[in-house]
Amino acid sequence: MTRIALLGFGSVGQGIARAILEKGLGITVTGLADSRSGVIDASGIDLSAALDRKERGEPCGNLDISSMDVVEEAEYDILVEVTPTDVETAEPALGHIRGALQRGRHVVTSNKGPIALDYPGLQALAEECGVFLRYEATVCGAIPLIRAMQEGLAGNTITRICGVFNGTCNYILTRMAAEGLTYEQALAEARDLGYAEADPTYDVEGIDAAIKLVILADTVLGMRVTLDDVERTGITLLSPEALQLAEDQDCTIRLIGEIVPGAGVLQVSPRIVAKTHPLVVEGTLNAVTVETDLAGDLTFIGKGAGSTETASAVIGDILYIQSRHVQSS
Ligand code: HSE
Repeated sequence: MTRIALLGFGSVGQGIARAILEKGLGITVTGLADSRSGVIDASGIDLSAALDRKERGEPCGNLDISSMDVVEEAEYDILVEVTPTDVETAEPALGHIRGALQRGRHVVTSNKGPIALDYPGLQALAEECGVFLRYEATVCGAIPLIRAMQEGLAGNTITRICGVFNGTCNYILTRMAAEGLTYEQALAEARDLGYAEADPTYDVEGIDAAIKLVILADTVLGMRVTLDDVERTGITLLSPEALQLAEDQDCTIRLIGEIVPGAGVLQVSPRIVAKTHPLVVEGTLNAVTVETDLAGDLTFIGKGAGSTETASAVIGDILYIQSRHVQSS
């Protein structure tokens, strides 16, 4: 049985808990924390009861147990860090991740802040401590994009990556064009459905997409870049009239992120795209075209946001570590 400590019990954390309850997967949760409380139980936490408490608007555990107590005191093999992203400091996730690595525990995270801010430092610490640091869920939700690029496309030179990286913006643009919703109505829906970041300005100002470009550039393409290197425009100023104008020409508007390593291009901006273009996907779908020298062009499409979909990527990383662990023991 793989023991995990789960930090963050919002949309993603609850999705992970529900998947474990339904499917087992050889995973038991021995530590759990939300922003207000925590639980530590080496014999396995009752996830149904914790989900019920959240449903009633209560904390998931005891107010006198903090997330850092869970990191330092619980018995676990893998820390699963799915708290909300903070792009300025990456805290509290950075402290959680460093604490777990220093204890010799593997880490799986969906939290973009620590990976965008200090991937080289965290990866070096993981290697020093002989453990894995996995972060597939940080980019494009359910699409196993990082693993596809690092493993499936190993040996290729990636010449360009271009796509839709933010499910919330895509949802908003789709709902505005298809249903004539205002920007505010569509954003409120995306928040209610658990797609948006805790701070939704990250989504609509293109910050979330830009962070994902930084993570790909830094961890897959070997570029040393930060958020400041990304030229960025969001969708906050897009009007229904602009969408209608695009519509009149059989086009639509999508928030597109692009990396061209050879030319130093890192860019996020709304673009007018023909409706037949492969990157024009609906709702919370993400679509990413990866251009390579050996494999040619590949386009990946899948849900980029959502509780279950993001949980899928986290669970894939947990099971990756579980399989290595079992093989080596
Ligand atoms: N808020 C993000 C999005 C979640 O909408 O794409 C997944 O990173």
